[in-house]
Amino acid sequence: MTQSIRTMRWEDRTLILLDQTKLPAEEVYLACRDYRRVATAIRRLEVRGAPAIGVAAAFGVVLGAEEILRQKGDLTTGLEKVFNELAATRPTAVNLFWALERMRKVVTTQQESDPERLVAALEAEALRLYQEDIETNERLGRHGAALLADGTTVLTICNAGALATVAHGTALAVIRAAVGAGKRIAVVACETRPLLQGARLTTWELQKEGIPVTLITDNMAGYVMQQGMVQAVLTGADRIAANGDVVNKIGTYSLAVLAAAHDLPFYVAAPTSTMDLTIKDGREIPIEERGAEEVTMFGGRAVAPAGVKVYNPAFDLTPARLVRALITEQGVIRSEAGKYNLRQANLVKVGQ
Ligand code: MRU
Repeated sequence: MTQSIRTMRWEDRTLILLDQTKLPAEEVYLACRDYRRVATAIRRLEVRGAPAIGVAAAFGVVLGAEEILRQKGDLTTGLEKVFNELAATRPTAVNLFWALERMRKVVTTQQESDPERLVAALEAEALRLYQEDIETNERLGRHGAALLADGTTVLTICNAGALATVAHGTALAVIRAAVGAGKRIAVVACETRPLLQGARLTTWELQKEGIPVTLITDNMAGYVMQQGMVQAVLTGADRIAANGDVVNKIGTYSLAVLAAAHDLPFYVAAPTSTMDLTIKDGREIPIEERGAEEVTMFGGRAVAPAGVKVYNPAFDLTPARLVRALITEQGVIRSEAGKYNLRQANLVKVGQ
């Protein structure tokens, strides 16, 4: 699989993040040497996408541990604050909590080690999470590629690409793998208001690789389907409940309903680290609400009267019955009579 985009790098005890708020106009990198800066980057969406924020937070823990070590503090108690601060950045994508849990396990199992060894073990675990993400997405892409016939045009939303992960992406890994297998695949990208991840990020990374992409505004999706311009809808996910309900970027649910109305398959590509089997039903998944200015402002200018009441949920819930199949690194899980039972799907979650 061709891959040139790397969302983050760990170099000289520094987490280097491609600042996604500046794309596509500028390709600039942020150097995070402090865990608080990593937390800010996640909150501001300088790094975003479920798998990417998990891995970034893991490196945040390493930076926090190194700081405690430098200041000769107590690692176990000091790290509690670091974990809490990173966990409080964004509430919806479960990969964040999953990655922090992996880091927490290192602290618990290495409690008896001397501080330097514990920090080294934390760094090794963060690097493992980084590498696993790349391999997981490659596998997921290969499994999903089989679902896309030669000549398919795929509709997607937000950015479930390399930029949302360490590399390759989830939904876009499937597209990359299908293209790599010699299929002619094209993409229609929804712009994804209010923060335009589709317009700014998905088109940017697909263009870089020469994968044909057409940008539409979100309200054009129904007409595009009615015109027969797309044959499948494929998105990522931020959290999937045990019953297969999917929480993903706001607008995903509308696409799933439209896909059903036009008899188009609606697929979700996500690693098993996005599955939260402790949650029975998607309605229990917390949905992040973001600031009003994301809706009232556009390109730095007000597009609504001052003081207008705004509702700005960042994610929505797509019921499992609308999801034709879940594409994971462990294979494709198809719904049975519109239902999933992921607790019984024999999934082996990485690191468990
Ligand atoms: O608010 P964002 O940009 O972090 O939202 C990201 C999404 O909704 C993605 O579709 C999801 O994380 C899957 S990414 C592989």
